[in-house]
Amino acid sequence: MKVVNLEFDPSEIYRPGLEVENGKAKEEYRNFKEGPLMERVYNTYLLMHTHQTTEFVRKKNEEYGGCNHHRMTIMEALDLLDNVVDESDPDVDVPNSYHAYQTAEGIRKAHPDKDWFHLVGLIHDIGKILALAGEPQWAVVGDTFPVSCKVQPSVVFWDSTFHNNPDVKNPLYNTKYGIYRPNCGLEHILMSWGHDEYMYKVMRHNKFALPQEAYYVIRFHSFYPWHTGGDYMHLCSEEDLKMLPWVKEFNKFDLYTKGEDLPDPKELKPYYQSLVDKYCPGQLCW
Ligand SMILES: [Fe+2]
Ligand SMILES: [Fe+2]
Repeated sequence: MKVVNLEFDPSEIYRPGLEVENGKAKEEYRNFKEGPLMERVYNTYLLMHTHQTTEFVRKKNEEYGGCNHHRMTIMEALDLLDNVVDESDPDVDVPNSYHAYQTAEGIRKAHPDKDWFHLVGLIHDIGKILALAGEPQWAVVGDTFPVSCKVQPSVVFWDSTFHNNPDVKNPLYNTKYGIYRPNCGLEHILMSWGHDEYMYKVMRHNKFALPQEAYYVIRFHSFYPWHTGGDYMHLCSEEDLKMLPWVKEFNKFDLYTKGEDLPDPKELKPYYQSLVDKYCPGQLCW
């Protein structure tokens, strides 16, 4: 199996919003800004903002939209995600599934009555298995943004990373609305390609019996320029604004449940298996 280093996700490192939300994170943010990671973060976004074009996104949507690459269960996919680390990296000793269970357990504690939301926590990053298919980091992780319209200022490094993206020179795509109509709704927007959109497609293809909120959270959880930055509201429908609080609520657990006590996946598995059996059982198409 191909082993890829996904321990580093720029979307989880560069978080301007953390400054105001969490004192501890503010310090971390400053350290990252000054430290060697910042260059790596910048370079990942430079690649992403250069190569995530309308054409690229359409191609990836087509390539993965049919979900005809693999067949496996949710739990098998989750286990697979554990292999998506660089084993030669001495700092990497916590499998990715810990983040899945931490997010899920955080949500479970705060929303004991919403089992669908617990499952969302567990599965939200499974789309990162794209890296096992050989997709580069900039096409798997990081913040997402709409293509085919003008980049808004809350996209990270928006003013220094898009200069070689051909879309910014294309008059079809470089206006405020680009190819979209005012308030057309995010469901009609082409988002930069990554693990959010891939997992959303897997959910739809396999008809997960989850509420609309679940689909929505998974699809847009990395769209920080919107849910945290407050941009792109001119493309949103009423429905999007209704869903926004759910994305924000989820985001709290995605970000702030890291680094606390490590959960014991073995102990938790039976509960989450019961949720999988309820909402997305059996062999799925990926
Ligand atoms: Fe994610
Ligand atoms: Fe996550």
